[in-house]
Amino acid sequence: MFVQARKLSRWMLGAIAVGTLALAPARAEDSFKIGLILPMTGGQASTGKQIDNAIKLYMQQHGDTIAGKKIEVILKDDAALPDKTKTAAQELIVSEKVNAIAGFGVTPAALAAAPLATQGKIPEIVMAAGTSIITEKSPYIVRTSFTLPQSSTIIGDWAVKNGIKKVATLTSDYAPGNDALTSFKEHFAAGGGEIVEEVKVPLANPDFAPFLQRMKDAKPDAMFVFVPAGQGGNFMKQYAERGLDKAGIKVIGPGDVMDDDLLNGMGDAALGAVTAHIYSAAHPSQANKDFVAAYKKAFGNRPGFMAVGGYDGIHLIYEALKKTGGKTDGDALVAAMKGMKWESPRGPISIDPDTRDIVQNVYIRKVGKVDGELYNVEFETFEAVKDPGKVKK
Ligand code: PHB
Repeated sequence: MFVQARKLSRWMLGAIAVGTLALAPARAEDSFKIGLILPMTGGQASTGKQIDNAIKLYMQQHGDTIAGKKIEVILKDDAALPDKTKTAAQELIVSEKVNAIAGFGVTPAALAAAPLATQGKIPEIVMAAGTSIITEKSPYIVRTSFTLPQSSTIIGDWAVKNGIKKVATLTSDYAPGNDALTSFKEHFAAGGGEIVEEVKVPLANPDFAPFLQRMKDAKPDAMFVFVPAGQGGNFMKQYAERGLDKAGIKVIGPGDVMDDDLLNGMGDAALGAVTAHIYSAAHPSQANKDFVAAYKKAFGNRPGFMAVGGYDGIHLIYEALKKTGGKTDGDALVAAMKGMKWESPRGPISIDPDTRDIVQNVYIRKVGKVDGELYNVEFETFEAVKDPGKVKK
């Protein structure tokens, strides 16, 4: 009798356990949590919006279960303020026990999270920030955005080869702006170019107007500009108001200032601007046409380069998890990411196994009208460009 009762209760416990399993939400070991830290408010909010949108789109297209793990994204807004990034990363790692952190709209945010990724031994996927040094700050950082030297060296060479002799520079006064300026100057000066005016503007709420008159007076052939994604619209408005377009001073630079997100609203002052960059919404591949169409359908506007960094970043996480067979160990995931190659909407890309940084095509593009809308029309391609900041070392 006693034995019978024990048998029965074991069976009952088993039945209850099976029933509970079916009803209960995914257990921690069945899920893969991504802590997504983005500027959803403040001056860089357009970056956060683009990346958040692109991740949602990717997950809609590819489902939310990979290698038996349910992907769960926990979004935190850091307003691009590194103190907030740090607090968010701590909470995500310690309380939420996330398996990876991702996003990072600006360099100071990516840097603030680096020691926490190292301590927590989890991947930090940098989807937006572009200062060369970032990937050196933790062995767990893998980047799907870009570096400023990738594009600024190339536009420096292009400028000298295309008869531009005098350039005035205007760059955001923080790490990626300095990376852009240094690498442009090195290449432009090596070809015999002259810098006639150099201005650095604050990252937060910059007013360009006081500097633009000085730029105009210096009578350069072109103006080299780096402002982060989201600020190009305001810059081009003030550039046109001060009549720099009428004075024939063309904008050149890395493509951040001509972000597709804002480009069509800039008006004809943007026509003819030549930039080197990693993504154009007008990139003529089928993969990009599909991406742009799906993004527009879902969100009603054009994706910019930040959206692509997010789309590729979530792809990288999905593929790494497939490769590890659902193993969530941070070292195994980073090892799986190294050397990965795929076709992005921007073109072919890969993760350099030595630096964990992205290797990608850089395109030279000119703003023109396509079907009545402004686009960066690509006309020259530099294939598989590594970050020049690291190649030199
Ligand atoms: C950065 O802070 O690293 C950054 C942000 C926006 C850009 C480029 C770089 O467009």
